Amino acid sequence: MRASVRSNWSNTVLVCAKCSKKLGGGFGPKGKVPLARALRKHLGLKKGRKGAAGIVEVKCLGVCPRGAVTVVNGAASREWLLVPEGADLDAVAGELGLTL
Ligand code: FES
Repeated sequence: MRASVRSNWSNTVLVCAKCSKKLGGGFGPKGKVPLARALRKHLGLKKGRKGAAGIVEVKCLGVCPRGAVTVVNGAASREWLLVPEGADLDAVAGELGLTL
């Protein structure tokens, strides 16, 4: 068995799935798309390891903000972002350093 696999992700972003669920999505034109999926689509990322960056949904991170989604930027994990519902995806991507 191989001991490792390559992903070539330039960065990894962890998005709380439960926050997204609580907002009923919260992003996209109708506000029904979860942040992770909306960001992936916005940046035209391929799936999984094939993407230029990884946007991964994770379980509750224990912050549970109202009307926002907790996001951890793997490259700057000391400060977590609380992305308000419906926030501009260009701005979010910029803040996460995801300008691909
Ligand atoms: S529900 Fe998202 S941090 Fe707890």
